[in-house]
Amino acid sequence: MTTHKAHILVVDDDLSHCTIIQALMKGWGYDVSLAHNGRAAVEQAKEIPFDLIVTDVRMSEMDGLEALKTIKAYNPAIPILIMTAYSNVESAVDAIKSGAYDYLTKPLDFDMLQLTIARALEHTHLKTENEQLKQQLTAAPQNMIGRSPQMRRLMDMIAMIAPSDATVLICGESGTGKELIARSVHANSSRRDQPMVIVNCAALSESLLESELFGHEKGAFTGADKRREGRFMEADKGTLFLDEIGEISLLMQAKLLRAIQEREIQRVGSNHTLTVDVRLIAATNRDLLADVESGKFRQDLYYRLNVMTIDTPALRERSEDIPPLVMHFLEKYATRNRKAVKGFTPQAMNLLLKYNWPGNVRELENAVERAVILLTGDFISEKELPLCINQFAQDNPHGDQADQAIQPLEQIEKQAILTALEKTGGNKTEAAKQLGITRKTLLAKLQKT
Ligand SMILES: Nc1ncnc2c1ncn2[C@@H]1O[C@H](COP(=O)(O)OP(=O)(O)OP(=O)(O)O)[C@@H](O)[C@H]1O
Ligand SMILES: [Mg+2]
Repeated sequence: MTTHKAHILVVDDDLSHCTIIQALMKGWGYDVSLAHNGRAAVEQAKEIPFDLIVTDVRMSEMDGLEALKTIKAYNPAIPILIMTAYSNVESAVDAIKSGAYDYLTKPLDFDMLQLTIARALEHTHLKTENEQLKQQLTAAPQNMIGRSPQMRRLMDMIAMIAPSDATVLICGESGTGKELIARSVHANSSRRDQPMVIVNCAALSESLLESELFGHEKGAFTGADKRREGRFMEADKGTLFLDEIGEISLLMQAKLLRAIQEREIQRVGSNHTLTVDVRLIAATNRDLLADVESGKFRQDLYYRLNVMTIDTPALRERSEDIPPLVMHFLEKYATRNRKAVKGFTPQAMNLLLKYNWPGNVRELENAVERAVILLTGDFISEKELPLCINQFAQDNPHGDQADQAIQPLEQIEKQAILTALEKTGGNKTEAAKQLGITRKTLLAKLQKT
């Protein structure tokens, strides 16, 4: 509900009727203003942002319908409730057609009035809330799920650097969402209506990559039967996303450096330079700085790309993001496969939380998709999860303290003593030392067990 008191304008030329309604509405917790004809209502509505207007129809000096149309013309969002004599219901129909929220017949049923007012106010409240939500959605990166501090920091970072034209380098393990981030940087930039062109640098050989990026002239090489624009040109005025940038050869690095520095390119087989206006985003799952040190990656290119860096956090470092991601993918694949999946068993969710996710979000997404396809019942259980996830839990039984049954202290003590003796090859003095007790105490305890 709205936190401030809703402010209602009551419009009626019957003064005593006005006073009664005013008193009632105040009793229901609203602020109330009065107007005694349509013209006065329009004047007041121009000055005060009312939450609701309740108006009579038949009045001298501009009737309720005309007032309604005038007010709606410059404030279509304001809900207007019409009060009309039962004999005049046609005018109520007109009013609805002109945008009235609802109508009530006179004599008024006050319970009905109270209910209708509450509904009208709730309705507009929901509408503004929806609009606010929509705005937030367009401002936030699309489809990016995550509530962990790391993800929030990342989203803030995207919001901060997206509007500039600065080159962005996105670094992180595979499957952490680098492409998703690149897309949202573009979508939140002033270039959003221009193309975003993606080149996977690892997928092409050196010579193919050059013509892919810069284009080629007809006859530049065998098979070049016509001139082709490169990806740089396609991305002109937009964004060029160079994925897997760490994989390109030193020769291509030199050519790319020149293109970035000069903002100029040459098609393969041409001496002619073309100017391009692209915003660059590059991504890699390699440690580029280490590659710079070992001479695999040009330092000057590294600094050109690394104007802004976004490091994507591994999923295992932010397990609180796992449940919302899981539910997001569950919904996606349940819909796609037309399955009515109700959710995960607690045990299955536990396994997902424990797992170390070397393939990060992509691996999680695949696991959920697979589970949805395999599922025959309502809830996804361990059975539908990949073997490696089940295996991981078996190999790391102490991963989740909360999941363990509580053991009697005596039993834990016995286990600790046995382990100590085992590790020290039965050396009681050494075992006692490791257990933090005297040899005498250890002997006493051993006699008891
Ligand atoms: N925070 C997130 N919210 C929702 N989906 C995500 C999120 N992060 C990643 N994904 C999804 O996970 C999958 C992998 O993400 P993406 O392709 O962006 O990763 P990547 O870092 O580019 O991986 P690689 O290095 O293997 O290319 C995609 O389907 C993507 O939509
Ligand atoms: Mg990728």
